Amino acid sequence: MKIFRLPLTLCLAAAVTFPGWARCAPGAPISAAGASIAAAGVAHSAVGVAPAAAPSSPPALYLGTAWYPEQWPESRWNTDLDLMEAAHIRFVRIGEFAWSRLEPSEGDYHLGWMYRAIRAAESHHIAVVIGTPSAAPPAWLTSKYPETLRVKQDGRLDQHGNRQQFNWADPLYRRLVYAMDVQEARRFGHDPDVIGWQIDNEYAALSYGPIAKAQFENWLQDHYQTLDNLNSRWTTAYWSQTYTAWSQIPIETNYGNPGLLLSWKRFVSDTWRSYQLNQLRALRPNIDRRQFITTNMMGFFNGYDAYTVTRDLDMASWDDYVGTGQLDPVSNGAKHDLTRGFLRKNFWVMETQPGFVNWSPDNNSLDKGEVRAMAWHDIGHGADAVSYWQWRSALNGQEEYHGTLLGADGTPVPLYSEVAQIGRDFGKAGPALAGTTVHSQVAILHSYDSYWAIDWQRHNKAFDPIATMVTYYGAIRALAHSVDIVNPDVDLSQYKLVIAPALNLITDKEAANLISYVRDGGHLVLTQRSGMKNADNGLQTERQPGPLVPLLGGRVEQYYALDSTVPVSGVWGSGDTHVWAELLSTSDPETHVLMRYGNTPLGWLNGQPAAITRKVGQGSITYIGADLEGATLDNAAKWMMTEAGVHPEFGPLPAGVDLYIRSDAQHEVWILINFGPAPKTVDLPSAFQNVLAGGSQRSVTLKRFDVAVLQRAVP
Ligand code: GAL
Repeated sequence: MKIFRLPLTLCLAAAVTFPGWARCAPGAPISAAGASIAAAGVAHSAVGVAPAAAPSSPPALYLGTAWYPEQWPESRWNTDLDLMEAAHIRFVRIGEFAWSRLEPSEGDYHLGWMYRAIRAAESHHIAVVIGTPSAAPPAWLTSKYPETLRVKQDGRLDQHGNRQQFNWADPLYRRLVYAMDVQEARRFGHDPDVIGWQIDNEYAALSYGPIAKAQFENWLQDHYQTLDNLNSRWTTAYWSQTYTAWSQIPIETNYGNPGLLLSWKRFVSDTWRSYQLNQLRALRPNIDRRQFITTNMMGFFNGYDAYTVTRDLDMASWDDYVGTGQLDPVSNGAKHDLTRGFLRKNFWVMETQPGFVNWSPDNNSLDKGEVRAMAWHDIGHGADAVSYWQWRSALNGQEEYHGTLLGADGTPVPLYSEVAQIGRDFGKAGPALAGTTVHSQVAILHSYDSYWAIDWQRHNKAFDPIATMVTYYGAIRALAHSVDIVNPDVDLSQYKLVIAPALNLITDKEAANLISYVRDGGHLVLTQRSGMKNADNGLQTERQPGPLVPLLGGRVEQYYALDSTVPVSGVWGSGDTHVWAELLSTSDPETHVLMRYGNTPLGWLNGQPAAITRKVGQGSITYIGADLEGATLDNAAKWMMTEAGVHPEFGPLPAGVDLYIRSDAQHEVWILINFGPAPKTVDLPSAFQNVLAGGSQRSVTLKRFDVAVLQRAVP
């Protein structure tokens, strides 16, 4: 969040009137809005809420909750906010589904209640993130303008009564959203207690009607210029798919031409981006720069390319739900690191479950202590805020059973005290974590193009591209303690080791990036199915890994989907490959075989190379054609670390204990969490200051879900 610097006099005026984060030393940061509203002499009595409480600084770690003041009588608000303040909740997200209260009829805007809710929050030292209400248009809007409703894939029009019923491509809907957003931005864009904006909520539902279809045709023309070009790049001679007019090109989402499928996804991504740009244009000119703009993403959700959609935002955020079962620190950690990779900086967890959800098959609760461990796991991965969805269930509506912090009677549920503990923790640890982030020597590449390309043609249904990525992520993270997950077109020079699990589709630009990374001394590891597809989701005209074959000095002779296991052995020990196997060959004397397949009735793989590597100057390129697991995977991970010269700060850790390190130039913060069932002791490499418990320590003992936050100067 950017904060303006103001003269001391204005700073003092604002600090007296508003809690708005004023730290009143000469030149100290303060929100410009706080000063301007204070200078304008707006009095709290004018809006009927108590005078503002004493000023406080913005926390480095924000604990928050989703609050829906529009669902409750105003007379209840202060009770809710008292309870939030007692739990150390420092921000509320409001308004993201409140359009029918903000504009009950066309052009008739009612923002006063939101203003009063913000003032009430302010009087409890609680900041506000406003969600623009576009995910839930009001009934008057969709009945007056039915063309704003989305057309479902079966051709039926969606209707009012749920949410996300709008057509994301519709220009009229965008105009109506823009007008609504401008009203909110003008009213609250300079409000000192509004710290940020969330655009919409979890973009997801698409429209397949004539409006989207026409825009898709335009998009195709922009990208392919001529039908001849499109026909050639999609190889439409196949099955007589040749198009002679743009209007003949259908929308396909599952079993279409791979070029068509990929183009639709890219169109969808660009259309969400332009949907969001429309709202950014409504907000940006009307709000202070210190107010961030984000939207809440969804982990591995693959409906669009999240790198495209987040590109124009100030900050990434996501909604972190476990759903069924317990927290899996590996796959959940990968989702955090994916989100941190969108804009390559710290992010917020904008929603997370207070114990349980209402939409999974069994909706079990997280165990006692697990919600706190999960919050610290979030922070360890680079989150600067954790916010619980939601504070209290609406008394009616689709989500009555969802976990909350208050019950239907308006008093705390058992989990409330655990969340209050998190709030106390955040207060204590905030100063140590302020300005710190995660620094990684290892990156894992993730591309939506590859994810989709494999998902549409898994070939073996058990080949899950995300599970493949998480497998490598887990093995390497256990050794390296921090891993970045990034798009293959970013500058990779900061990483000693880059792993590209199943990087199926490689564009020319990405290939050039990877080649120069290796030539500049980087260590690149490609795994199964890499380098098979080109930018149009067509086959590369070289065997895998396509444009990287010359650098590798080897290639994939043939891939095999497996119905039974094939043994593999070599420098990483002995194991099995289960789902997929690629027969590799070498063409360069400098390319060495690391692993070979054993004998099976399949025959083709017997004794053939399963993993090969080649040194390129100071760097190297490795291709793994088998799916590794257990000891062979762990040994491969160790080998990669050694080859690349990645020296982890610490380890090995006791089983079940996770370590996260955030640092700035001066100091490091280590977060240790025990996710295992038994108590574990970790002997530290030097003396650390225990941020939560106090004192200096050389070792910590952690019971299940215990958290230690430790600080030391950078050694
Ligand atoms: C999220 C959504 C929230 C709420 C929550 C329930 O996906 O953004 O509005 O529905 O799920 O888990």
